[in-house]
Amino acid sequence: MSVDTEQPGSTVPRLVVTEVDKVFPAGRRSAGGVQALQQVSLTIEPGESVGLVGASGSGKTTLARLVTGVGRPSAGTITFGSLRVDRLRRRQLRGYRREVQLVFQDPYAALNPVHTVGYALSRPLVNFLGSDPREVRRLVLRLLDSVGLTPVEQFIEKMPHQLSGGQRQRVVIARALASEPKLLVADEPVSMLDVSLRAGILSLLADRRRERGISLLYITHDLLSARVVTDRLVVLNQGRVVETGATVEVLQHPRHPYTRQLLAALPNPFLSKTGLGQPEGG
Ligand SMILES: Nc1ncnc2c1ncn2[C@@H]1O[C@H](COP(=O)(O)OP(=O)(O)O)[C@@H](O)[C@H]1O
Ligand SMILES: [Mg+2]
Repeated sequence: MSVDTEQPGSTVPRLVVTEVDKVFPAGRRSAGGVQALQQVSLTIEPGESVGLVGASGSGKTTLARLVTGVGRPSAGTITFGSLRVDRLRRRQLRGYRREVQLVFQDPYAALNPVHTVGYALSRPLVNFLGSDPREVRRLVLRLLDSVGLTPVEQFIEKMPHQLSGGQRQRVVIARALASEPKLLVADEPVSMLDVSLRAGILSLLADRRRERGISLLYITHDLLSARVVTDRLVVLNQGRVVETGATVEVLQHPRHPYTRQLLAALPNPFLSKTGLGQPEGG
């Protein structure tokens, strides 16, 4: 079965995070313990793209980890369709990891330096989809093409160090798409890339997501980048949701002082308006 032939979003479950707390016990980093998340609730409808925005330390990555089944909430529930993510057993985790894929901030760390691009992309095809070895190459080439790494025959043999940061993040996105996931969690996927490459990578993410009908949790501290990829925003401040709403609405009429503060911290809004959204290379 290929996602290409499916009705977009038809088999994508709803993600529901309900009143989640996460407390890290006292340790080296935190004498009295850290409440990283407090009563966080959010929903991602099938095929919807939600932005989780907040300053550094607001709890974004902590939530991303819980949503992907890494660690458990101290309180509250997380469900993906009928699956209780906060209670996943080891044997269910494998299936869940296929359906929910992560794109991290650092494309340098995400790829194994000793494996070719072709190998990195073939692994999920073999492991998760059980693709026929003869089929794998065809699928790898198709993935490379879908993330704009052409001519594909050249990229399949390359090692990560032979690629630019932008090209590497394209490989990481292709690898995340390889297992035909239903939800992508992208945690600051462009913040380590050169500014000139960011819009190109974000449009790519937005386009592939839309055509496959995949849900997206896009995590960022940069409100304007969220406009390129998200339908709705959830604003997190010190572990609490302080505002939610349609992306356009929140950006134009922010209600919470913290959201206004995030917006005010942005560079010249006119430049950002004209600069983002333009397809660029990378
Ligand atoms: N493993 C951990 N142990 C202790 N504290 C942690 C751990 N992970 C995150 N934190 C703390 O939780 C808070 C939220 O962190 P994080 O989720 O990484 O924020 P963000 O991704 O928004 O920058 C911070 O105060 C951070 O120091
Ligand atoms: Mg983070």
